[in-house]
Amino acid sequence: ASLHQYNTFGLHAKAKVFVEARSVKDLIEILEAKEWKSLPRFILGGGSNVLLTGDISALVIHNRIDGIVETAADEEHVRLHVGAGEMWHDFVMYCVSKEYAGVENLSLIPGTVGAAPMQNIGAYGMEVKNVIETVEAIEMETGDLRIFSNQECQFGYRESIFKKELKGKYIITGVNFVLNKIPQYHIEYGDISKTLEEHGVKELSLRAVSNAVISIRRSKLPDPAQIGNAGSFFKNPEISLGDYERIKSKYPEIPGYPTDLGVKVPAGWLIEKSGWKGYREGQVGVHTRQALVLVNYGGGTGDQIRMLSQKIQDSVESKFEIRLTPEVNLV
Ligand code: EPU
Repeated sequence: ASLHQYNTFGLHAKAKVFVEARSVKDLIEILEAKEWKSLPRFILGGGSNVLLTGDISALVIHNRIDGIVETAADEEHVRLHVGAGEMWHDFVMYCVSKEYAGVENLSLIPGTVGAAPMQNIGAYGMEVKNVIETVEAIEMETGDLRIFSNQECQFGYRESIFKKELKGKYIITGVNFVLNKIPQYHIEYGDISKTLEEHGVKELSLRAVSNAVISIRRSKLPDPAQIGNAGSFFKNPEISLGDYERIKSKYPEIPGYPTDLGVKVPAGWLIEKSGWKGYREGQVGVHTRQALVLVNYGGGTGDQIRMLSQKIQDSVESKFEIRLTPEVNLV
């Protein structure tokens, strides 16, 4: 089966076997099915954070477990159980319409709800770890359900236990969120306040913030329906204060955000300074408006994108002595 429709890079990789799981029950049946017992398993959500560098000789399970259910509420909070296969942005739109705060800055992020805890999605000063109470997942070997507390997920910047120790071992089936009925707006990051002003917003609302984020993302990030991509290809590296000062003495304009460990530097800036912004090689390239995004103009292969990403890593390293690490999962 072709996975063309199931990855936002629009790559033509094939799966040995492709099945959809629409419920937890479906999923368990698939895991237990005799005919597929011998095959390795690969879980696909929205396909918005993977680079398929070739065919997958595995049982590819497309997680389509749906449902948004309010499980509890009081004056200040609401608890929601959300199926892992729900589209992330649809869930954000649900929260915005109900006036539940905490995910509005994460509007328009591609992918599914189940993929969100995987890499602790974040944007414009918000991270999903701040609204996740627990994550429900099925152990692939045994079919047992395990509920991970927020703590147990070991969330970090674009990291969680599901990308590290437990990589490939669990299938996330649902996420339990706690959202706020009393909003706390985060508009200090990037162009949000400028955009709110441009939109003529007088009184803040979740809808207004969400709309601002949507405009900013649309202006910088290519729409995967038009140009294949998986958002940021690399993580923003955290470097020591010493290394930051070393680069700053040569490039005084280098942006940087202080962190516990040192300074986080935008990989997009490093890539642009190394001359790659808008670079094109056949059908693959570096986005013209955001150098952190690698694109497939149509007909490119996963291998071509991987090779381009390595050239970028080498080039940035030789110029700045910083080795970028991919944010997308290479498969
Ligand atoms: N920059 C450049 N050139 C570029 C791109 C960026 O110089 O081509 C510099 C600019 O100085 C800009 C700064 O980098 O001010 C930050 O750029 P931007 O606000 O676009 O954010 P980012 O750091 O490149 C991160 C996330 C994005 C998220 C935005 C907004 C990572 C790896 N990426 O990008 O997440 O949307 O912040 O919060 O942390 C994703 O993960 O797929 C993703 C799109």
